[in-house]
Amino acid sequence: MKRPLWISIPSWEDQMMDLSTEYLGLRLKNPIVPSSSPLSHSVDSIRRLEDAGAAAVVMYSLFEEQITLESFYLDYYLTHGTDSYPEALSYFPHTEGYNIGPDAYLELIRQAKEATRIPIIGSLNGVSTGGWVDYAGLIEEAGADALELNVYYIPADPSINGSEIERMYLDVLHQVKRATSIPVAIKMSPYFTSTAYMARRLTEIGANGLVIFNRFYQPDLDLDTGEVVPRLVLSDSAELRLPLRWVAILYGRLNVDFAITTGVHTYLDVLKALMAGARVAMMASELLHNGLGRIGQLLGEIENWMYEHEYASVSQMIGSMSQQHVAEPAAFERANYMKMLASHRLPVQY
Ligand SMILES: Cc1cc2nc3c(=O)[nH]c(=O)nc-3n(C[C@H](O)[C@H](O)[C@H](O)COP(=O)(O)O)c2cc1C
Repeated sequence: MKRPLWISIPSWEDQMMDLSTEYLGLRLKNPIVPSSSPLSHSVDSIRRLEDAGAAAVVMYSLFEEQITLESFYLDYYLTHGTDSYPEALSYFPHTEGYNIGPDAYLELIRQAKEATRIPIIGSLNGVSTGGWVDYAGLIEEAGADALELNVYYIPADPSINGSEIERMYLDVLHQVKRATSIPVAIKMSPYFTSTAYMARRLTEIGANGLVIFNRFYQPDLDLDTGEVVPRLVLSDSAELRLPLRWVAILYGRLNVDFAITTGVHTYLDVLKALMAGARVAMMASELLHNGLGRIGQLLGEIENWMYEHEYASVSQMIGSMSQQHVAEPAAFERANYMKMLASHRLPVQY
C-alpha cells in the first residue's frame, strides 16, 4: 500500500507504528542499538546517541588486560614500593591508548545512567577465567542494565583443539554469569565448527542473548616498512549476510534473544535483521562513518516501509523470515549453494 499523497508525513515519533522491541528483558523504544565502539567513550557522546534516537547503548569494552594490568600494578607497588619499575609489565599488551582504566569505566557507567534514560549495556572483553570476571558484578553495581561479553580469542596454538576452545568460551560465560545477576549476552564468533551447537551450549550455560557475530579485525602487511599493521576497515552491507543466515537458522530453536551486529548500514539491513529473527540491530561502522543522524533517518525510513507494507509493529516482523517461516527453508543451507552457483552469470564471454 502506497502512502496517500495528501497525508503529510509525520515524524517517526508521532506515528502510530509501534517500533518497540524487547531485548534481554529490556523494553526498548525501537530496534536500533549502537554497538560497542568509541561512540560510548564519554557521557556526552552517550547522551548524543540517546538524543539521536538510539534505543539503548552498548558501551565500549573493558578489557581483561586492563583489569589484570591494574591489579598487577597495585600488587607490585604494595610489595615493592613505587620507585621500582616492574619488568613484567612489558608482557602486558598496551591498552592505555584505546581505553580508560577499570575504575573510570565504572564511573562512566554510573554517570551515563544518571544522564540518560535509555538502557546502558556494559561490555567485558576477555578470554580467561581469572579474577577479572568479577567486574561483571561491579558493572552491575555501577548501574548497567545488562552486560555483553566479548570473548575475542584467536586460536593460534596448534596444540589446542576445538573442544578446548569451546570449553573456554563456556567457562568464561559461566563465571561471568556467577558474578552478576543482570542479563548477559555473548558476542559470538562466526568461526566455530558447529555454530548451532555452540549457540545451544551458550544458551544452556545461561546466555540471555547471542550477539551475532563478533567481527574479527584482520591485520595487514606493510610491504614498505616490513611491519604488520592494524588497519581498521569498516564494514559494509555485504557483511550482513553471514549473521543474517545464522540468526534465521537459529531463530525459534533456542530460548535466547538474538542481536545482529556486523554489516547493518541501511533501513533495509535493519528490517532484514528483524525478519531473520533479531530483536535488535546493532550498528557501529555506519554511525562512525556517517554520523549519529543516521539513526533518526533509518527510523523514519523503517516507519515508511512498515506503513507501505502494512506492518503495525516491529514485533510482528521479528523472525517472520526465519528458516522456520520461509517457504524454502533449505535456501539457508547447502541446497542454496548449488543453486547460487548455477544461476551465476559470467560478466564476459570466455
Ligand atoms: C572503532 C571500533 C571500536 C570497536 N570497539 C569494540 C569494543 O570495544 N568491544 C566490542 O565488543 N566490539 C567493538 N567493536 C565492534 C563493534 O561493536 C561491531 O561489533 C563491529 O564493528 C561490527 O559491526 P558494524 O558492521 O556495524 O561495524 C568496535 C568496532 C569499531 C569499528
